[in-house]
Amino acid sequence: MHTITAIAHPNIALIKYWGKRDTVRNLPATHSLSITLNTLETHTCVNFSAELSADQVYLNKALADDAFSARVGACLDGFRTLAGVHTFASVHTSNNFPTAAGLASSASGFAALLTAANAALESPLNLRQLAILAREASGSAGRSLFGGYVIQHRGQHSDGSDSYAEALFPAKHWPLEVVIAITSEKEKNIGSTEGMLHTAATAPYWRAWVDRSAADIQAATAAIKQRDFAALAEVAEASCLAMHALMQSARPGLLYWNAATIELIHKIRQLRATGLAVFFTIDAGPQVKAVCLPEAADKVEAALKAVPGVLRTLRCLLGAGARISNDANTE
Ligand code: PMV
Repeated sequence: MHTITAIAHPNIALIKYWGKRDTVRNLPATHSLSITLNTLETHTCVNFSAELSADQVYLNKALADDAFSARVGACLDGFRTLAGVHTFASVHTSNNFPTAAGLASSASGFAALLTAANAALESPLNLRQLAILAREASGSAGRSLFGGYVIQHRGQHSDGSDSYAEALFPAKHWPLEVVIAITSEKEKNIGSTEGMLHTAATAPYWRAWVDRSAADIQAATAAIKQRDFAALAEVAEASCLAMHALMQSARPGLLYWNAATIELIHKIRQLRATGLAVFFTIDAGPQVKAVCLPEAADKVEAALKAVPGVLRTLRCLLGAGARISNDANTE
């Protein structure tokens, strides 16, 4: 057994996942389609040791709180059951970007955790099994195992065996850029699981949202295949706005946006009207991600920085899937 460090990147969905068809197995109610980013990174170091009597989890160099440790432990339990091992592990995980602020730190975190755990035990599980375990830990996490353009299948089976992420197109097929406008560094106050359950239980448009998912996936896949920016912009903004409208229609409504989020939506649409190839997407937080063609990125970044309430911007290209790092460890 070795100490292994893995790197994974967050992903952002262009066609959104919001809602579960099974909460125990964490099965999504919708398909989703994402891009994996570079620049933002989770590094996770895993060491299985017969001397440990429980998993030990550190987040950003400090002992993790009970809730975080329990999620990591549950993910490792699923891994251990499939791999047929009983040894506990020490886990050191760190992010070079804000944790739990709508930047998908749980996705990169679980993808890195499972990649490191599997390598530490010399790969008892295949990528499909890791994708299923990652999805059980966090609905969007399986997507961060892969680079470029990725699909997460909703699946039909009640055991979740057909609900997994897989690569759709490599990053080099269409190397888009992403400018992230950070409008708050605070952690979100309603986690995605709680938000999804509340939405499914109370939002009047729930059924329409679920029914729309397959058609949006089809349209987005065709647009990416043909590198049709206008078509991708149309369907991705529609999926994002429909998800937020759905959340807002819950009772009480969920509102993840702040004033700058709305200013940014208007700014990005204005920029597109002037001919710049850019569209927005927003997750369960107030940050706005502007997806653009590389030649538009400098102008987009300058325009977003000037919007009141924008604290800073981050630039990303499309990134690779989760992988082993050659750095010694993250402690
Ligand atoms: O994986 P979770 O449970 O954090 O859910 C992610 C939900 C959204 O980010 C809002 C949408 C998505 O598909 O990533």
